[in-house]
Amino acid sequence: MEKIQLIATATFGLEEMVKLEVKKLGYEEITVENGRVTFNADEGAIPKANLWLRTADRVLVKMGEFEARTFDELFEKTKALPWEQWIPENGKFPVTGKSVKSTLFSVSDCQAIVKKAIVERLKQNYEVEWFSEEGPEFPIEVALLKDVVTLTIDTSGVGLHKRGYREKANEAPLKETLAAAMVLISRWREDRVLIDPFCGSGTIAIEAAMIGKNIAPGLERSFVSEGWPRVPEALWKEARVEALKAIRQDTDIQIYASDADPKAIKTAEENAYQANVDDCITFAVQDMARIRSDKKYGYIICNPPYGERLGEQKEVEDLYKRMGQVFSKFDTWSVYVITSHEEFERLYGKKTSKKRKLFNGRIKVDYYQFFGPKPPKELFGNL
Ligand SMILES: C[S@@+](CC[C@H](N)C(=O)[O-])C[C@H]1O[C@@H](n2cnc3c(N)ncnc32)[C@H](O)[C@@H]1O
Repeated sequence: MEKIQLIATATFGLEEMVKLEVKKLGYEEITVENGRVTFNADEGAIPKANLWLRTADRVLVKMGEFEARTFDELFEKTKALPWEQWIPENGKFPVTGKSVKSTLFSVSDCQAIVKKAIVERLKQNYEVEWFSEEGPEFPIEVALLKDVVTLTIDTSGVGLHKRGYREKANEAPLKETLAAAMVLISRWREDRVLIDPFCGSGTIAIEAAMIGKNIAPGLERSFVSEGWPRVPEALWKEARVEALKAIRQDTDIQIYASDADPKAIKTAEENAYQANVDDCITFAVQDMARIRSDKKYGYIICNPPYGERLGEQKEVEDLYKRMGQVFSKFDTWSVYVITSHEEFERLYGKKTSKKRKLFNGRIKVDYYQFFGPKPPKELFGNL
């Protein structure tokens, strides 16, 4: 198989996490930039990366990168790329675009030029004058940043956060990719108890259970590149069979997810069932102050309300104070909280071990990390 370059796109703050995941899949020569992680691979990486990456938004084929300050330059350099190696004669290739701090700022013109250049290239290769575009889809993006053009084809289609298990969500659900990142950043392991006392639709608990059982997050969905001639069906089949075999059945995962809202718990239970992890999560309708555990060295990972709406501020501040009191009883546990409230640490009443800036959708948030003490070796082995 020929070498290709793939880009795993990442939300601000999650690039290093995506890099770790790419590395774990066995790929090297990884470059990290704002919002994207580029790596050298082969076609087999397209199924593998799409099925397995938990924290990336999409996987793109990098077709080329060059400078362009005029439309002529954009046209000629786009036309020089080997589009026929990916797009068959009946392929559909819509072009989207974005332009930041670049001479060519009109996105619609850039899109039209790129489309025209690809059509010209394919016309020469297939010796036809017209394309039906009735076949598989190849979503192309032209992205300009400071006059550097990156041309990509999206292999994912629908964003990777759509795992397929969350048809319904409650208010302010976390993106699955962010919830997975929260669990991975915490270094929670499946032999430790995990509690989410503000579980809403259950996203954190479900993503943790999938990590614990080693379920590939993309196993239950399809991807736009599944119909591409360049990525043979056999590669997809092989990757799916391997992912099925990789699921751990013999785990004793104990995750407790609760919420004060009964409707939220009903949805969360349905989602956990859809994700095939209902066997490791115990759900309850209860106020967060009622969480209990006789286990030591567990994890609390949560996404409480932020009080963004008018009138909710006072209520949320009282809640954060109460969280400080309730969670302090879990004195051997590690606690991880994501919120946009800038006074969280003061209200919670404890200094963080570490804080990480992230984005929850468009909301700037901090991920507050309070590390618990290390357990004795005889409990969990070497950590
Ligand atoms: C931001 S949402 C959590 C969203 C969740 N992470 C998801 O992905 O769907 C906050 C949740 O906290 C719950 N909540 C608010 N106050 C609570 C309290 N005192 N005890 C328990 N749950 C509470 C709300 O019902 C809401 O579902």
